[in-house]
Amino acid sequence: MGDFFVKLGRSRAARGVIRTLRLPLPLPRELRRARGPWQERPLDGLPVIVGHMPGGELVSALAGTLARVGAATWVIGDQDQFDVYREQAEASERAPCLLSESEPPEDVRPQCLVFDATGMESPGDLRRAYDFFHPWIRRLHSCGRAIIVCRPPEQTSGPSAAAAAQALDGVTRSIGREIGRRGSTAQTVLVERGAEDRLEPVLRWLVSVHSAYVSGQCLRISCQAGGDATGFRSRSLDGKVALVTGAARGIGAATARALAREGAHVVVMDRPNEAEAVEKVAANLEGTSLLRDITDCDAADTIAEFLGERFDGVDIIVHNAGITRDKTLANMDQQRWDQVLGVNLVAVVNVNEALEPLLRENGRIVCLSSVSGIAGNVGQTNYSASKAGVIGFVRALAPTLADRGITTNAIAPGFIETAMTAAIPLATRQVARRLCNLSQGGQPEDVAEAVAFLASPGAVGMTGQVLRVCGGSFIGA
Ligand code: NAI
Repeated sequence: MGDFFVKLGRSRAARGVIRTLRLPLPLPRELRRARGPWQERPLDGLPVIVGHMPGGELVSALAGTLARVGAATWVIGDQDQFDVYREQAEASERAPCLLSESEPPEDVRPQCLVFDATGMESPGDLRRAYDFFHPWIRRLHSCGRAIIVCRPPEQTSGPSAAAAAQALDGVTRSIGREIGRRGSTAQTVLVERGAEDRLEPVLRWLVSVHSAYVSGQCLRISCQAGGDATGFRSRSLDGKVALVTGAARGIGAATARALAREGAHVVVMDRPNEAEAVEKVAANLEGTSLLRDITDCDAADTIAEFLGERFDGVDIIVHNAGITRDKTLANMDQQRWDQVLGVNLVAVVNVNEALEPLLRENGRIVCLSSVSGIAGNVGQTNYSASKAGVIGFVRALAPTLADRGITTNAIAPGFIETAMTAAIPLATRQVARRLCNLSQGGQPEDVAEAVAFLASPGAVGMTGQVLRVCGGSFIGA
């Protein structure tokens, strides 16, 4: 399932030859991915350039976060803003530096560029975003991060400020397209008023190697779900019980491993005919195996019974099991339609309903959707319907569970290298891999990292959302 072009791109010599001969070959940058659990100081000693609008409202939140992640911070802002950075850095051994916009020092190659756009009043202020990114973007380290934090357009002071806030989304998406070939990513984070203290864990994840295949996304942080936003820290899932459906292989197995790595006890569930693989995954992470076909009419009740008896409840539910049965609608028989809708949507709703009473306070529900559910796809009316349905489900469910501190989100993977996509003909597969900012397919672990993040206590600010793990796919909005 390896990608020849990513492998070739590892070789400096091959890259040199292709550059010299001007061959029109894409050589995607191999992404820097997580090799272990979440880190307390994911940017230890790495340079970060942070800029603020005059009157930026997130100075304190950003200064605290960057000090705690260990960044070597260079601040573009006024003296008052810089003083906040100095105060926050007192506990850490790294003093921030104040930078003049006009004279970027030659030797700094930032790992991250973070721009606080709160305080923008009109489209004229967008020039500040240009002034911030323009001198630095070329120097951003490979596999670097560009992040804009701002208020949601409807929470700004009026239509003019809303226009500026929305324009920033265009800025980030375009930056993502421009820096993707170097393995770097760009995101917008919308921070609702009152949700400032929930920004840190989200930023921690975005700046870390755990979000390597997420690009061009707009994440929204709200106060909708109750609870504390404790950090995105190692072992923050200690003591939690997680159910992962379809966990015998692919994204499900990777998710089970990621959740266990952060401390959860994982119930590894799949169909009875996958017994051997299920046992193996469960044994490797000291989890519990459960064999059920989620489309069986008693599946929802028996899963609930099992979790109730064995664990007296559940904290994290990952609805991952899914299938494809592709045919154009004209050629699709009823069976293909019913099977795909049955596994990917009907069973998700049924199992979730049965498990809701068992879900503990501050629980997490994560459903696997797909970019096909957002954009549609030839030959996938059944699959796209099911994956779009999942999005409708999480959006409607989120407010109903928010007062118990439970969040409900969907993840929409793009092209991920699994058994499912290995079945795609080679030529189509090669093209599909390139249709994103990062010019390569994702790994099951990339999706697993996003699930683990949304399952963490720190992600309490995110609910009712669809997080795409697609490398900044060109497909869909
Ligand atoms: P996969 O085919 O490798 O694994 C799916 C797992 O679900 C298998 O272990 C299978 O046995 C299990 N499963 C299927 N029907 C089941 C049932 N009735 N009861 C219990 N378990 C059942 O798939 P992959 O690629 O790991 O995908 C995981 C999820 O991510 C799916 O929901 C898929 O639609 C979604 N996804 C995958 C993408 C990709 O590029 N691989 C892209 C977008 C979404």
